[in-house]
Parts: sequence; structure tokens; C-alpha cells
Amino acid sequence: MHNTLINFIRDVFNTNDNIPLHAPFFGGDEKNNITETIDSTFVSSVGAYVDAFESELAAFCQAPYSVAVVNGTAALQTALYLAGVRANDIVVTQSLTFVATCNAIHWLGGEAAFVDVSMKTLGMCPNSLSTFLSTHCDYLDGQCIYKKTEQVVKAVVPMHTFGHPAEIDALAKICETWGIALVEDSAESLGSSFKGKSLGTFGQYGALSFNGNKIITTGGGGAILCKSEMAYKKIKHFTTTAKVPHRFEFFHDDVACNFRMPNLNAALGCAQLAQLEKFITNKRELASIYEDFFSEGPYTFVKEPEGCVSNYWLNAVICKDENQRNLLLSSSNDAGIMLRPVWTPMHFLPMYAKSIRGPLDNTEWLAKRLVNLPSSVRG
Ligand SMILES: Cc1ncc(COP(=O)(O)O)c(C=O)c1O
Repeated sequence: MHNTLINFIRDVFNTNDNIPLHAPFFGGDEKNNITETIDSTFVSSVGAYVDAFESELAAFCQAPYSVAVVNGTAALQTALYLAGVRANDIVVTQSLTFVATCNAIHWLGGEAAFVDVSMKTLGMCPNSLSTFLSTHCDYLDGQCIYKKTEQVVKAVVPMHTFGHPAEIDALAKICETWGIALVEDSAESLGSSFKGKSLGTFGQYGALSFNGNKIITTGGGGAILCKSEMAYKKIKHFTTTAKVPHRFEFFHDDVACNFRMPNLNAALGCAQLAQLEKFITNKRELASIYEDFFSEGPYTFVKEPEGCVSNYWLNAVICKDENQRNLLLSSSNDAGIMLRPVWTPMHFLPMYAKSIRGPLDNTEWLAKRLVNLPSSVRG
């Protein structure tokens, strides 16, 4: 099977060279936009491309506003800060995620608590969230209080794993009932939708990443989707050192960050965004080729959840057991084809090993079996 799979992936990507997990695709105005930006000297955090990228991104996602920032981690950190997360607050998230989700919580002084993912979506499981809250928390004066320590549960951060939509409407309802802010980690899911609505627009804030391995890239970059002009202004202020606008004076009215996306990165982003629709079609075609191939077994291909449209950022299969997974990973990597296991769950990392958590059976089961397949846009 391994040789058949290796030959199949080589045919699909039409190359005998090494095949990466996810390479960027530059097929539009990228070079022109960057040259023009350099010629203009506006390479840094002020410039026309930043404004254009923000408004085009918001339009694509049908979000009222978006703010471009330096990376997805900064987007998450900003969103959580604006959602009110401060030292000692609990933020409920999933253990099956990339470490940046937890790091963003940590650097605000918050504490990550983990609930399980759903086998249907690989994203946060609404039942696990609701069981965790009803078992461990009280709803007091409009706040969700973790009974054991009396810490406030300030936010819930589901992550749309590999671009597949989590059951975001059910998660949103639970957050509303408990008075908890919902911040979507949509780093992987630009262009995916749940019942026709873009991911990242269900929560109070949605955080996106444009790292080099994402569906579109700005080199490094991220964005926050938000719902009101007031939120937009607050995010801008926080991410631009809280500088009070003035022709020449430097006055800052709060402790803040320098998280703004440089114009040079936004120039790349505008060219990439113009191709996003094509990239999604291309990636969905690849997913259907993989789905056909794996229909005979022995691996189970991960399909988009029903009623959803996934950008299929990273394709994945589920192996029978850990041994089958390890054999698949070593034979494909030996052959120069980059298959990857899913991230080590956060509660197995030393810094998050003592975090509060509910049962994580699905997370642990999946962590031993999930393998990502090469998923780049094909030229
Ligand atoms: C789920 C998830 N969250 C957050 C991030 C952080 O994004 P960035 O690398 O742009 O900081 C990433 C991607 O890298 C991610 O996959």
C-alpha cells in the first residue's frame, strides 16, 4: 500500500522531487505589488495595501470589519485581550490544536482549560464544552465561575481543525447561555463556511493566520474579524501602540502592542486574496481525488462535516492504530513525501500538562492516528 500511495501522490503532484506538506502558490500580482510597494517607500505599517487588504478580506468573509496584524498568534492575543481576558482568567479551548492557541492565552496571564474534540468535525465538541461547564462552573452575576478556584471563565476558543468547520452554532449558543465570550481560532479556515456563513464571523472575534503554510500567505501575518466599528477602532488602537493620532506629538493613552501588519506583507496579501476563490476550488478538487483514492481503505479519509463547506486546507487520513501511522509516516518521509502526524496534544506538552481539563478521549485517540497529506495548491 505504501508504494501505491507514494506513486499516487507523485502522480497527483506530477513531480519526482520532494513533496512538501503545504507550499505557498504565487500565481498573480505578487511581484508587481511588492515592487510597487518598495518603489513607494511605504513598506512599513502605513500604506494603501494594508487598508485594501483589510477591506477586501472583510468583504470576502462577509464580516463587518477586519484588522490586519503581524501573525495569527498576535491576532488571537489581541482578540482575547479585547474579549476581556486578563491575568488568572480561564479560557476554554481544545487540546487538539497548534500550540499558538495556548500561547496566546498564556501571554495574557490566562489559563487554558481543555475540552475534547468531536469525531465528526475534529473541532471542539459542544457536548464536552457543555458538560465541562455544568460540572465545574456556576453562573453568577452574569459570569461563569470555575467553582474550585473561583476563577472567571472569560472566553471559549474553538479551533476549526485543518479548515473543517466545528459545530460553531451550538458552541455559540453554549457561550451565550454562560455569558462567555466566543473567539474563533480560524487560523486554518479562511474560506470555509458553516451553513453558508464564513468561519470567524460567529464569535465576538475571529482570528486568521496568513503564515507561509496557510491557504493564502502574507509571508507572516494574521487578521482579526470583528463586528462593530467600535471594536475595529479598539483593535486598531491596541495594535498600534495606543497612539493618539496627531500630526507630530507622541502621546499613547494605554499599554498596548505594535502588532500592525506591514504594507509590504499586505501587498503580497492583496495579490493572494485575489486568487483565494481559485485556491479553494483547487484544494477541494484535490480533496475529492484523495477521497476517491482512500475509499477502498485501509485509511479513513477525513471529509468535511455535513452542511459545511471546508477549504480543505490540510487533507488528512485516520489510521487503524499508532503502528500503522508510524509505518506510513516513515515510508512516505523516506520517499521524500512529507506526511505529518497531527500536533502533540497540548496536555502532553510540559508547559500545559497541569492545565485544567475534562475527559480527552477523542483527542488522545486521534493524536495516535491522524496523518496529514500533502495539500498544496497545484499549478
Ligand atoms: C490553529 C492555529 N492557531 C494559531 C496559529 C498561529 O498563527 P501564526 O503562525 O500566524 O502566528 C496557527 C498557525 O500557525 C494555527 O494553525
